Amino acid sequence: MSDLIEEEYSLLTVLSRFNISLGFGDKNVAEVCRQNQVDTNTFLTIVNFLSEDDYSLEHSYEKIDLPSLISYLKNAHKYFLEFKLPLIREKLILAIKSSKEDVSFLIMRFFDDYVNEVKKHMDYEDNTVFTYVEELLSENMPSGYNIGVFRKRHSPIGLKLLELKNIIIKYYPAGESSNLLNEVLFDIFSCEKDLEDHCRVEDYLFVPLIAKIEKERML
Ligand SMILES: [Fe+2]
Ligand SMILES: [Fe+2]
Repeated sequence: MSDLIEEEYSLLTVLSRFNISLGFGDKNVAEVCRQNQVDTNTFLTIVNFLSEDDYSLEHSYEKIDLPSLISYLKNAHKYFLEFKLPLIREKLILAIKSSKEDVSFLIMRFFDDYVNEVKKHMDYEDNTVFTYVEELLSENMPSGYNIGVFRKRHSPIGLKLLELKNIIIKYYPAGESSNLLNEVLFDIFSCEKDLEDHCRVEDYLFVPLIAKIEKERML
């Protein structure tokens, strides 16, 4: 497991979203998963999906344990809403505090609007989509909803962050605080990639898995 992290350090976030803590010594992936009651196939499918550009999607979702995947996605939502975005906000305030009031006001308003959008997106998934899937798993066939509704309305949430980044890069007059501002930009770049990956897991692993379960139930 430690070799895997050394090779691709961005997988650290995957570990915490599976509630796997560090300090696993020389244990291999399967042992660490077992020790933390994590389904090894689900863990490996997500790791491979995120780390290989040409990862074959065909049927890879079939190896996934759905409750493990939902818990992974819910933990990611918590991470973005309760940790990463508030941290970026704090850093952003620090970085732009010496700039003209109207510029910093606009940047903060843009950021806060963005966070509200992400919150709405993730609340909908937590409250509507995952609740529907939990019902589906409990052998009730919930009526009035299906995963096709989610597939259609699921839109990428990294885009507005790209706009914010562009506003800062193109128009912000960098002064004494350019180191701090760069620091925030690095965070925004990595958060954007993380959000894109999160959405890809939902589109290419979660949705096909639910569609398959729905199809089986119809038969
Ligand atoms: Fe999500
Ligand atoms: Fe999403």
